[in-house]
Amino acid sequence: LWTMENFIEYEVEKIRETVGDKNVICALSGGVDSSVVAALLHRAIGDQLYPIFVDTGLLRKGERESVERTFKEKFNMKNFRVVDASDLFLERLKGVVDPEKKRKIIGHTFIEVFEKAAKEIPNAEFLAQGTLYPDVIESVSVKGPSATIKSHHNVGGLPEKLNFKLIEPLRELFKDEVRELGRQLGLPEEIIKRQPFPGPGLAIRIIGEVKSEYLRILRDADAIVLEEIKKAGLYDKIWQSFAVFLPIQTVGVMGDERTYDYVIAIRAVESVDGMTADWVKLPYELLERISNRIINEVEGVNRVVYDITSKPPGTIEWE
Ligand code: XMP
Repeated sequence: LWTMENFIEYEVEKIRETVGDKNVICALSGGVDSSVVAALLHRAIGDQLYPIFVDTGLLRKGERESVERTFKEKFNMKNFRVVDASDLFLERLKGVVDPEKKRKIIGHTFIEVFEKAAKEIPNAEFLAQGTLYPDVIESVSVKGPSATIKSHHNVGGLPEKLNFKLIEPLRELFKDEVRELGRQLGLPEEIIKRQPFPGPGLAIRIIGEVKSEYLRILRDADAIVLEEIKKAGLYDKIWQSFAVFLPIQTVGVMGDERTYDYVIAIRAVESVDGMTADWVKLPYELLERISNRIINEVEGVNRVVYDITSKPPGTIEWE
């Protein structure tokens, strides 16, 4: 019988044999796949693993700290490294409005930063990646029109440019198997059940140009959305729920004052695979709480709207 314990034992053995006394690097984002890869590799080769976390400055509130806590402290990954490249990403994105251009810039900058960090690691010969079975299939099949609407940079970008031998222990697994594997390896539910988060991060949830003020507003608004969705017990039932920043100012009133501030849109969708999606009929009371909190707590926002578009015709992200 092929159980998860068998799988772990088998893969651990295989990884040890492959790697020998060389070191392995991996890009750790804190998402399910890269987290499971890191945990599995660490189980197999301990401190020969060098996980690299790139802080793009486009992450959600507290994300970097939470990944550090999990992998550096809880898993005791001694060679875990954080590269703070947020200034570089912001600089490269300056003046860029087109969503696909933003994706490309972020993808290239990520590879550049990762490559530089990887070069500093001694004796590194292998790159571990969280490629799943569906990724393997998708990359060999002919893509339909939906796949080309947005370029998803997180699949396949790294290996071609970097001179490492690949280790892809999840190549034969589906997402639910990866989650099970993660549980067996002791990853927290917070990571196992995480809603998908796009590689380009908050950059594609700010419409048009990315600016640090916009990031600050979106990050704070998004944290409120997630906190309230979690409190309402809905986080695990929803495919994705998040805030979007609209760089338009509208008129409002606050006390006796006229305000002229930005708009936050709330997006919550149900989906099986992200290909199609339905907007979620969130309870009015919940929407009210989210709206009030964002307007009271996030400086620069005076209007909150709810996106009631399904996919198709809308996409899940706004860019
Ligand atoms: P859309 O917006 O195309 O999104 O309906 C479908 C799913 O894909 C995610 N998404 C991305 N993921 N890089 C990613 O890694 C991207 O550029 C990207 N664009 C969209 C989106 O969050 C949703 O889960």
